[in-house]
Amino acid sequence: MIMADLTTKIGKLKLKNPLILGAGPLSGTAGHIRKCVDAGFGAICAKTVTFSPYLQRYPRPLYRLKDYSIKPDAPFFIPKDYMWLHREHNSIFPADRFVKIIEEVAPYCHEHETVLIGSFAGRGIEEWKRIVSAYAEAGTDAMELNFCCPFPPEGLVSNPADAHLGIYFSQHPEEGAEIIRKLKETVSIPLFPKIGPGVGNIIKMAKIFKEAGADGLSLFANDRLLRIDIETGRPVNYGPCAGTSPHMIAATMRWTAEIVQETGMNVLAGRGVTEWEDVVEMLMAGAAGVEICTAVILHGHKHVKAILDELAKFMERKRYERVDEIRGLALKHILDNRQLIEDTRALYAVVDLKKCIGCRRCGEVCAYEAIYELPKKNNVEQEKCAGCTLCSQVCPVGAISMKERDNDEDHFRALAWEHKDLMPELFGGGK
Ligand SMILES: Cc1cc2nc3c(=O)[nH]c(=O)nc-3n(C[C@H](O)[C@H](O)[C@H](O)COP(=O)(O)O)c2cc1C
Ligand code: SF4
Ligand code: SF4
Repeated sequence: MIMADLTTKIGKLKLKNPLILGAGPLSGTAGHIRKCVDAGFGAICAKTVTFSPYLQRYPRPLYRLKDYSIKPDAPFFIPKDYMWLHREHNSIFPADRFVKIIEEVAPYCHEHETVLIGSFAGRGIEEWKRIVSAYAEAGTDAMELNFCCPFPPEGLVSNPADAHLGIYFSQHPEEGAEIIRKLKETVSIPLFPKIGPGVGNIIKMAKIFKEAGADGLSLFANDRLLRIDIETGRPVNYGPCAGTSPHMIAATMRWTAEIVQETGMNVLAGRGVTEWEDVVEMLMAGAAGVEICTAVILHGHKHVKAILDELAKFMERKRYERVDEIRGLALKHILDNRQLIEDTRALYAVVDLKKCIGCRRCGEVCAYEAIYELPKKNNVEQEKCAGCTLCSQVCPVGAISMKERDNDEDHFRALAWEHKDLMPELFGGGK
């Protein structure tokens, strides 16, 4: 019987497991942080602090859920997909006062082998140096540099310099790099800039931050998103605000894989992580640690143990001894379009008429009109089949399999059959 070893190393940090609490309301006070230690996180990222008064005030209401179907007979039912929209800014405690909270909880974290990560959104470099040094002295093991908070200052600040924080440093990566360089001269704890999505050339930014000395990258914070309530015609939560959703995991995973492949950086990957399978996927995409925030708010702290138990069971079932064996497992199988064109064969669908129950589902989804009806069965016209594979994925009885074509010409002929005159070179004519 294999005992799964969940410990992992992120640079010089040693985590008892790869699950990291993303900064947010669950790490806003000493009591909150202790509760997350007890829940079993490998690392906890404390709520972001700042000196910017407008980020210490929250426009209300704080949280809105969209597409969150409720069931009176099942109050703990949590839908698989929902949209979370919020207006929570940074900690209401000014940065220097939160240092006392760090001092208070750091020993508890360390007694329980939990890595404590601080988070600061500074303005000028002196502010950055002062607070990051104070956090390091108070016992944080690493810092997330908040280059991500997507809140605009409109209507809240009179001095434009106050807006030069949070996502500003992802949008101006050279200025972010300068902060990283100066902080590396000041403290020895690892530094992870945390970035938001949609901030320009992410790979270029990652390289700039790596060059400046960043020990890794944390991605993603929330994006500014907008949903509309169609019954009232009004924006949900008054307009664009920070949001996340389980389906947003795909974008994080894509960027995690690309950053790891292009830069080799340690990525703390999160946004949309909800279940244990998401954690496995993130690790396989190359994440060094996996951040989770809203799912733990919705499911409660018990969700942490549930995820870790299932992760261990998965590893035992698949005979992985160490979590590091999973890390980046999928990367070598990621192919680009050139490789796909050169190294893979075109496909066509074949129906096993003995299995077909004649439900007609495949014909409905075939955008290429390649499926024709037989009495009580469906079949594929191979000359028209584009090999998209959709029919084989929706067939309820697994009656459709995909076969490789002998040559690509047949594939292109299938795509062009309706307009043979426009592509005579494919159909035996000259051009
Ligand atoms: C209510 C709330 C408050 C948050 N506050 C912070 C914060 O102070 N600093 C920060 O870097 N990220 C903050 N986040 C972002 C989360 O750490 C996380 O990056 C984001 O929610 C995406 O992960 P998730 O889909 O697991 O929630 C907050 C998120 C939520 C929902
Ligand atoms: S593989 Fe795609 S194109 Fe071919 S028959 Fe199925 S649905 Fe149609
Ligand atoms: S979806 Fe499957 S079972 Fe239904 S008609 Fe097509 S091949 Fe037959």
